[in-house]
Amino acid sequence: MAPTSFGVEYDDMSRTLDQIKAPVASELEDFEAHFREALKSDVSLLDKITYYIVRRKGKQIRPIFVFLSARMFGECKEPTFHAASLVEILHTATLVHDDVVDDSQMRRGFFSINALWKNKIAVLVGDYLLSRGLLLALDNDQFILLKILSRAVRDMSEGELLQLEKARRLDIAEDVYYNIIRQKTASLIAAACSAGSASTQLDPDLQQRMYTFGEKIGMAFQIKDDLLDFGEEATGKPKGIDVKEKKLTLPLIYSLAQAEAGQKRRILRMIKQNSEARATFNAVYDLILEKGGLTYARQKMIAFRDEAFAILHSFPDSPSRQSLEQLVYFVTDRKY
Ligand code: IPE
Ligand code: IPE
Ligand code: MG
Ligand code: MG
Repeated sequence: MAPTSFGVEYDDMSRTLDQIKAPVASELEDFEAHFREALKSDVSLLDKITYYIVRRKGKQIRPIFVFLSARMFGECKEPTFHAASLVEILHTATLVHDDVVDDSQMRRGFFSINALWKNKIAVLVGDYLLSRGLLLALDNDQFILLKILSRAVRDMSEGELLQLEKARRLDIAEDVYYNIIRQKTASLIAAACSAGSASTQLDPDLQQRMYTFGEKIGMAFQIKDDLLDFGEEATGKPKGIDVKEKKLTLPLIYSLAQAEAGQKRRILRMIKQNSEARATFNAVYDLILEKGGLTYARQKMIAFRDEAFAILHSFPDSPSRQSLEQLVYFVTDRKY
């Protein structure tokens, strides 16, 4: 499953993930076929690309959240499988589009769809995946699922656009950063937890609590992703791409806010004029080290994680609750 080039730590982490999956291991096994089937197309180019996508699968964090959230309240049946496939299909669609938007050539340790088939095809494949995902809910009369996930799609698009708008002007305050990541990333993990729980019980209040739980994890998840972009770990994605794309993330936002006016102007000028230069990244990185930006972002990530735990612990203890707890730890400790 894991590309061997990722090394020992990667294998360690995927072993951890295997343990977390234990309470829903057989569901996850059946999920593979369900997911594959949901993407079938008569257009051979599409079939070829979706085959490529299915083969180079990611961590599948979101379907795991769906199954564990469902399992906390009941047995996983057909509706849970629809929810898991829908969530992973939408996630895949947003990654395909995101790599076009970020002009990123690598994903999951290999070439991105836009690197292999160019932007035109990647945009259309992303659209196809979005439509297939939403139709999966509609065709099976899963209206609650459709409602939860359609909102997530809206939020993700708004979040990515808000991010682009801010990148263009290079002005971003910490609260705006949280709004961006809440929309572009946390909304889908929130939807995964909420839809998972909605597939095994019908209490709207409980679904909402699961939504908020997922949202907190999603915030921590994206802060971790932004930390990994500054780090050394082999994530299977390009490094330092956020600065290149003029994406100001939490470590840098915090460090800029701590910097003297002249220092801040100098860094922002470098990013504005030549964001792709090695010298720009180095200057940014030096500032972040000087101001403790990585430590600050880690603290914020842990604060979101603890808020997630507080919600999780309001539910009765069970093997799936324990796995969810481990999964939350995985999100903040992962190296890829
Ligand atoms: C990547 O998500 C996109 C972000 C929201 C940061 P994952 O890290 O879950 O991607 P895969 O599915 O495992 O490749
Ligand atoms: C998350 O942002 C993107 C989505 C929510 C689709 P990033 O642009 O940081 O994600 P990666 O790093 O490319 O996976
Ligand atoms: Mg990206
Ligand atoms: Mg990233």
